[in-house]
Amino acid sequence: RLKAISDAIRVVPNFPKPGIMFQDITTLVSNHKVFKDTIDIFVDRYKDMDISVVAGVESRGFIFAPPIALAIGAKFIPLRKPGKLPGETISEAYELEYGTDCLEMHMDAVEQGERALIIDDLVATGGTLSAAIRLLERVGAKVVECACVIGVPELKGRRRLNGKPLYILVEPRQ
Ligand code: PRP
Ligand code: MG
Repeated sequence: RLKAISDAIRVVPNFPKPGIMFQDITTLVSNHKVFKDTIDIFVDRYKDMDISVVAGVESRGFIFAPPIALAIGAKFIPLRKPGKLPGETISEAYELEYGTDCLEMHMDAVEQGERALIIDDLVATGGTLSAAIRLLERVGAKVVECACVIGVPELKGRRRLNGKPLYILVEPRQ
């Protein structure tokens, strides 16, 4: 199953910038069998872990997090780019190659002590996931694990996750 998942990711060289091998998951999710297998692997792993919150990271984390949340009986909450959430929010900045960006979460989206899973499509430097972890911990949630479809096993970014476990299905394609 993992081989089929990896094979379904389209690599687009030099997008959005020269030297970047873009990992395009649109070709994964447009294949029903492969998309379903991807979600099923996460669901099998998390269904008995007493998780009540699945947090998805805008934008591409929004593709994977809701079906996982529905299948394991948890709520879905969006971690959004700045200025998009109408309620009272908290925000956490993270570093990009040039400058910083930030993620926001509704303060009342999670209650103290809830067990959370954070989902994104891909982890590179780990900056995005580290901001997501800080958001959930600020409202008193316990981050059980972060999970991505694509990531480097020997990731420097793992160290940025503050000891939180990181689960990855496949490595980036060349
Ligand atoms: C990409 C990807 C991850 C993040 C990983 O998102 O979807 O969210 O970068 O990078 P990092 O580990 O170095 O932080 P991006 O911000 O490009 O935007 P998108 O999901 O809205 O397309
Ligand atoms: Mg993203």
